[in-house]
Amino acid sequence: MIKACIFDLDGVIVDTARYHYLSWKRLANEIGVELTEADNERLKGVSRRRSLDIILELGKVTMSEEEKEALAEKKNTWFVDYLEQMSPDEIYPGVKKLIRQIGEKGIKVGLASSSKNAKAVVEILKIQDDFDVVVDGNMIVHSKPHPEIFLLAAERLNIKPSDCVVFEDAAAGVDAALAAGMKCVGVGSLALLSHANKVVSKTADFRVQDLEDLENA
Ligand code: BG6
Ligand code: MG
Repeated sequence: MIKACIFDLDGVIVDTARYHYLSWKRLANEIGVELTEADNERLKGVSRRRSLDIILELGKVTMSEEEKEALAEKKNTWFVDYLEQMSPDEIYPGVKKLIRQIGEKGIKVGLASSSKNAKAVVEILKIQDDFDVVVDGNMIVHSKPHPEIFLLAAERLNIKPSDCVVFEDAAAGVDAALAAGMKCVGVGSLALLSHANKVVSKTADFRVQDLEDLENA
């Protein structure tokens, strides 16, 4: 039985994944590294520091921990600048309706994001009351693909992991959901998320009736 749906935030509820990409690309350019959209797929879902390490690996750049801290902070300042321009109309069309329909079926709804900015995003979008629980990057030690964030969400919802479905746009997030023993709906490209139990192009393409198929997946 599916008793809870757990949504990732960046790239599933709103296109903040784009703002992460643009901010990382600007930082990568500053240190002479080219960051393509294809490479950026590896940054999705992972922590800020891991994202920076991937960029440094791509460019074969080495630097001290202090320098890394400063760069990660700089990228975050640019990301926060984007957030300050954001409004509730940037929520992907149909997502609030889907969340409401899930709730009407008596299924709990959680939000689980690796981002330390997730609470701010949720407040800007005014969606805090749409979720039974919100867990973010400040509450975990291991970022996706580790299952910790989803296991924490399930624990706070008081639902067994095997009764949860995760909605994820990141390959690392799909890995994390499956490692938690949950079902996973990938949001985005089938080629990149084929390890999910089902893939939709956009979050709102998922219909609440589709949950029944996932029970048998
Ligand atoms: C995830 C994003 O939600 O949060 C990643 O998919 C991002 O791209 C991660 O790196 C951490 O975000 P933040 O806001 O803590 O830097
Ligand atoms: Mg995401």
